Formats: sequence, C-alpha cells, structure tokens
Amino acid sequence: MGRMLNALSERALELGPARDAEPSGHFRISRDANNVVWMVLDRTDKRVNTIDRPVLEELAGHIERLETEKPAAIVIRSGKAAGFAAGADINQFVGASTAEIKAALEQGHQVLDRLAKLSCRTIAVIHGHCLGAGLELALACDRRIAVTNASLGFPEVMLGLHPGLGGTFRATAVADPIEAMTMMLTGRSMPAKRAKSIGLVDAVVEERHVAAAVEAAVSGDLSRKPKSFGGKAMGFRPARQFAARQMRKKTAEKARQEHYPAPFKLIDLWEEHGGDGKAMQRAEIRSFAELIETETSKNLVRVFFLREKMKGLKEGESAVEHLHVIGAGAMGGDIAAWAAAQGIRVTLGDIQVEAIGKAVAKAAKMFKAVLKDPLKIRDALDRLIPDPEGLGIAHADLVIEAAPEKIELKHKIYAGIEPKLKEGALLATNTSALPLEDLASGLSDPSRFVGLHFFNPVSRMQLVEIVRHGQISPETERRATAFAAEISRLPAPVASAPGFLVNRALTPYMAEALVLLDEGVEKERIDACAEEFGMPMGPIELTDQVGLDIALDVATSLRERLGEDALPAAPAWLTKMVEEKRLGRKTGRGLYDYDDDGKPKKAETSASGDAEMLDRLILPMLNAVVSCIGEGVITDEEVVDGAMIFGTGFAPFRGGPVHYARQRGVEAIVARMEELSAKYGPRFHPHPGWEKLKG
Ligand code: NAI
Repeated sequence: MGRMLNALSERALELGPARDAEPSGHFRISRDANNVVWMVLDRTDKRVNTIDRPVLEELAGHIERLETEKPAAIVIRSGKAAGFAAGADINQFVGASTAEIKAALEQGHQVLDRLAKLSCRTIAVIHGHCLGAGLELALACDRRIAVTNASLGFPEVMLGLHPGLGGTFRATAVADPIEAMTMMLTGRSMPAKRAKSIGLVDAVVEERHVAAAVEAAVSGDLSRKPKSFGGKAMGFRPARQFAARQMRKKTAEKARQEHYPAPFKLIDLWEEHGGDGKAMQRAEIRSFAELIETETSKNLVRVFFLREKMKGLKEGESAVEHLHVIGAGAMGGDIAAWAAAQGIRVTLGDIQVEAIGKAVAKAAKMFKAVLKDPLKIRDALDRLIPDPEGLGIAHADLVIEAAPEKIELKHKIYAGIEPKLKEGALLATNTSALPLEDLASGLSDPSRFVGLHFFNPVSRMQLVEIVRHGQISPETERRATAFAAEISRLPAPVASAPGFLVNRALTPYMAEALVLLDEGVEKERIDACAEEFGMPMGPIELTDQVGLDIALDVATSLRERLGEDALPAAPAWLTKMVEEKRLGRKTGRGLYDYDDDGKPKKAETSASGDAEMLDRLILPMLNAVVSCIGEGVITDEEVVDGAMIFGTGFAPFRGGPVHYARQRGVEAIVARMEELSAKYGPRFHPHPGWEKLKG
C-alpha cells in the first residue's frame, strides 16, 4: 500500500517533457517546445535523492553542454515523491583524507558556480524535503518555486558542521541574512510559506500550478523579493558585529563552544566576510574542511549512524493498529498521546477519571508542539479515546500497563485483563525497575509479555528499552521492537536485569552526586561539573527532574538487587525530604527550589574544572554500562552508546560512553577507578567486564 501511494504521488509530480525521458545517469532530461530544458534528478540507486560526487559530476557534464546549447531556461526538480534532496551523502566523508575532502568541496563549488553563472534563467522547483546540499543546489539557481509541502533546512550543525557547498554565502545573500543564519545555526527546517517570507524561495504554489509558475518564471514574471532595510544593513561590518554578538549569546545558551565549535565558526565566518560572496566562499571551504576533522563532528556523524542502526533493528511490522494504555499518569498519558500523534488508535484507561481528563489536556499541548498543523492535531485528538471502563482492552493489539510501580497492583491488573486480551495481542509493562520474571509469574501466557520502557518526557527522549525475560517469545520481542520504531522511537533490546541499562547507569551518577552534596560540595558546582563534561543536565537537577521519590525507589531497589558495594546508601535526609513531599520539580521544591516556569533557582557558580569530582560522577556510570555489557544485559556496544545518548542525553559530541571510554583509554580508566576505590570505597571497583573491552 505504501509503495503504491508513493508511485501514485510520483506520477502526480509535474515533470514537464522529462516525464517520459529515458534516464541518463541520475537525471532525466528533456526540452520542451519553448526551448526550456527540464532536468529531473531521480537517483537510480536510492529511494531519496542525495547530492554526492557522482551527481555533481553528472551535473557538471550537463551544464557544460547547456553552456553551448543555450536553452531559454533550465528547470531543476526531483522525480522522487519524498522531496527535492536530503542533503549530502555523509558516507562519502567517512574515512576520507583532508586533501580528498578539500578537493571534493572545491570541485562541488565549481559545479554550482557554473550553474549560477549560466546565461539562461535557472529555476529550481522544490517539493518535500530540501536539505543541506539539496538546498545549496537550489540556491545556485536564479529562482526557487516551492510547492506547498516543501520543507527547507540546513541540518549540518547536527553533524558538527555548517553548510559547505556554498550555503553560507548564498543563503545569506538570497534571504534575509539574520533569518538565514538562524536557520543554519539551529539546523531547524522551515515550511515553504515561511521560506518565502524570508526570501529563501520566490513563490509557493500547489503542485497542480507548478507548470504555470514555471512559465511565469521563464518569462521573467517571477521577481525576487527586494532585500529589507535590515537585510541591506548587514552588508556593513558594524551591523554584522552587533548581530553576531547576539547570535553568539543565543548559541552559547544552547551549546558550549569547546564542545560544539561549528555554529561559532559559522558566526565568525559571516561576521568577517558577510556581503563578500567570494571571500565567504573561500572561508566556507576552509572552515568546513577544518570542522569535518574535529572529534565533535566525527562523533556526531557516529551518532547519526547509531540512530540509523537502532531504527534498523525493526524487522517486519508490529501489526499494532490499536493500543490500549492502562494508567493515565505521568508516563501512561504521555505514551498514549505520543502514539496517537504518530497515527496509532489509542484507548486510555485509569481508575481515576480525572487522571484521563488531565492526560488528554496534556496531550492537546503535546500535539500542538509536535504536530503544529490544526488538522493533524484534530486527527490525533480523534485517535486518543478516553476509556475509563477499559473497553479497548478486548480490541487492542497491544496493551501497555503504566500503573504505579507496585508489584501486587500490577499483578492484579494483569489478572483482570489477560482473559480479555484478543488472540495475538501483546501485553507490555512500562516498569522502570521491577523484574519482568516476577511480573510475568502470574500470567497464563508469559510468551506475549514484554517490557516497553519509555523515558520521561516521552516526546523528547527517543529511546525505548525493549525488555526481554526468560519466557518471552521471539515474535513478541520482534513486534515490540517494530512498534517502538513505528512510533518514531529508537528501540534498544535489553535483558530484565536490575535497572535494565539506562537506570542502572544513571543511578550511580545521581547517587554519587548526593554523596558529594553530603560532603558539603555546593549543588550548583556538582551540576556545573557534569555540564562542563557535556551532560545536558547536572545530576542534582536530574534527580529533581526524575522526582526524589522515584529516584529513591530506584536506588533502593538497585542496591538491594546489586549488593551494598555497588551503590552508596541513600542519605537519611533524602528519605525525610520524600516524606515531607519535597519531591523535586513536580512539587516546586526539591534539592533546588523552582520558579513558576519550572526552572531551578540556582546560585551563581564558577566553572568547577574539578577532574576528581568529574571522575567520581562519570566513571561509576561507565562502570555500570560496562557491567551491563559484561553481564549480557545488552551486548552491542553501538546500541549501548545510542541508548545512553537517546535515553539520557549522554554528551552526544563524545559519541557515547563506550566510545568515550575507548578514546580515553580503557587501561587508564581502570587504573583511575582503582585509585578512587582505594580512596572512597568499593563502589568504584572496576567491573571485570572492562577486561573484555581492553582487546
Ligand atoms: P503515576 O503515578 O503518575 O501514574 C499512574 C496512574 O495509574 C495514575 O493515574 C493512577 O490513577 C493509575 N492507576 C492506579 N491503579 C490503577 C489501576 N488499577 N488501573 C488503572 N490505572 C491505575 O505513575 P508514573 O510515573 O506514570 O509511572 C507509571 C509506571 O511507569 C511505573 O511503573 C513507573 O515505574 C514507570 N516509569 C516512570 C517514569 C517516570 O519518570 N515517572 C519513567 C519510566 C517508567
């Protein structure tokens, strides 16, 4: 069905006379009666267009011919239903030498420069995704016509880069320079309408009006938006200096220069050369070639592939069309909403009707944030059905239980629902710490039982741990994995060991922070130390975010199951705070106090730069990760790194905990842990699993 839809929509694209042209390499080219040449990019080897050396070389050949043939105009568009082009092929840079990268960049620039210099009018028609190098190709044309569904962006910053095929100087020359810079600095895509308002494209039309829009552009009736006064002012250095200062400030709020140099280099580049295309082009090539050699960029490219690998764990379809969620609390409500946003029909039950009402209200907010389009929001709300009586259980292909973390309660719930489940339906739990074997013990068919461990907040944390146990069937595990991927989350299969992977790794990090606090270290300093390393949030703030009650529960249960040497005891004052309902962010008071926007009130603190404190926080986390590998909780090192990045935000620019450990040196880490163990106790004792990593 999906394939058929694709084929149909490809038929619906206006390709002029090139519709029936024979492919020549990755293009289909034909000339119409008015001497307009249509060049349709339709890679023969890929489902989506990417721009790499072979495509650029072919393009160069065509341009050379067109320089002499002198058509009236050239139209460039994609023949793929998904969009114009998805950017450069990042595989082409993996393992390439500096000289090769520079040569490829210079060659690419020459091709686009020749395209830009053609004496005839060149028109890009853009539908769907138009990203990175795809957008740079479109920017080298004289005019851009966007179809209403187009989405344009420069995602290079996410890979620790900035545009490298002319995007920096062409985007700032063509569009409002501040808007173009913001686009490149954030990596966020924008819809067609917005792209027109900033001058990035010249027209937005429905697909059925593409031919007419092209005609208008050929005959010179499609003019470019004149630059605004503010835009022109950016041709002057003092104005750029002022704007650059603002950009640096905004960027620094989100990323540290020493961790993420690319956006800062982009700002420098524009401040220095903005308005001088040639100089900016030379600087862009130089700066891009430098960035691609940085550890940050290499690691972010690694993260890109880790994500692809995790997506690829999906085999076949889950066959889940209807999901029922039990428990409309913090997690159940969000899981239900997220699944509905992703197109699944969802019924949501709870013993408290008010909880369902609250969850639906929260869902509406989530839909607004992630779906934006009012029609899509309405459809998602239609798919999310309040179900206090649990009528959906009998129809659901998957039931996820997200009731409170009490084993007797969960057993009772399973006993009530199992007889109602449809033939072939799966039963899942969102438990964070209860052993799956114990939960499965009362079930008549434990083979269809699985852990689907989502993270809080569900819409931001991409990871889902797929938890197996002794009696699970391979088919249940396969379908659960596929389901996670189908709702755009990243699955990581784990065994039902204490804390699975992520909580096992995070708990020692948070527990050590409490020990430091107990020793009298300022909480702000502890958090700053972890943030300097690149964690998205320090361990104290994280503990507040998770909730002191939950953190205490997880830590206590892990300590019981892993032994007293594995984790420090929770300080007595923590238990007291939980009793007093000072639970963290959710109650407005925890280890920090919170303002009305839910932001912690932090005292000013200087950079910590304390290597020992950092090791005390990070090494126990790495040790837990290594014990999970050693004990077979999760064996694929790449999936481990991906899971920690997408489940905890572990410093992405470091490429993941295992990668970091290998970079720093396994021997050195083991030696350091032995030192810390002698000084602070057995919780720092290196796990035997490190031996395996040494090889
Ligand atoms: P919560 O307390 O916010 O929500 C639980 C909901 O279940 C409540 O609305 C309650 O009324 C409802 N409930 C209680 N008994 C029920 C029954 N018999 N039938 C139907 N509904 C019933 O709890 P939260 O935080 O959402 O946790 C749910 C599960 O998810 C727990 O197993 C927890 O360990 C796990 N989890 C929690 C995370 C978190 O950060 N809060 C993260 C990952 C997993």
